[in-house]
Amino acid sequence: MATYRIAPSILSADFARLGEEVRNVIHAGADWIHFDVMDNHYVPNLTFGPMVCQALRKHAARADGTPVPIDVHLMVQPVDSLAQAFAKAGADLVSFHPEASAHVDRTLQLIRAEGCQAGLVFNPATPLDVLEWVIDKVDLVLIMSVNPGFGGQSFIDSALRKTEQARKLIDASGRDIRLEVDGGIKVDNIRRVADAGADTFVAGSAIFGQPNYKAVIDAMRAQLAG
Ligand code: DX5
Ligand code: ZN
Repeated sequence: MATYRIAPSILSADFARLGEEVRNVIHAGADWIHFDVMDNHYVPNLTFGPMVCQALRKHAARADGTPVPIDVHLMVQPVDSLAQAFAKAGADLVSFHPEASAHVDRTLQLIRAEGCQAGLVFNPATPLDVLEWVIDKVDLVLIMSVNPGFGGQSFIDSALRKTEQARKLIDASGRDIRLEVDGGIKVDNIRRVADAGADTFVAGSAIFGQPNYKAVIDAMRAQLAG
């Protein structure tokens, strides 16, 4: 059985208290911290850069000091220089959209050369085609179930079919690749996303929009266990 991971997106956290929010959501049971980087060019919104990642690095740890992975989702174009900057700023995983890189294979190599795990992100209207050619260099596949740029949007159902397809490709590769889904995930649909083959779940507004983060994460885990 899959080891499920819940990755709260701090896009919906209180930006005036980010360190505290990261600590609180880890205390509430987060497995990864999902860090949405938007550049007002590839997507119509602007968030935070490598300096904020570096500042949060020391907050992303469990009470016993074990570091919690920072999962950087780059919605930027071009990709390469920022991917390297986030690796140096303490990211554990760095994912990017293939449309945003002129040379996808090279960008994957560059991220791994920095010691990070590398991920490819697929928008709702983007086919998985490129995956076939670079799957040996990918550690994470991220399926977007909303159009990137904003939190709080509704889940796009075609992402389920794409997740099933990605699961087949990953299993056929025999490689240890995580399958993450991002956008519109809530307690009431997380089970369907898992049934489609996902093992890692990004949730922003569903968690940070509620006063009790632990109650939401516990309810998500109960759905996954059921
Ligand atoms: C959207 C981001 C998501 C976003 C998800 O561009 O990639 O990670 O934070 O937010 P919710 O869970 O609110 O859809
Ligand atoms: Zn994201």
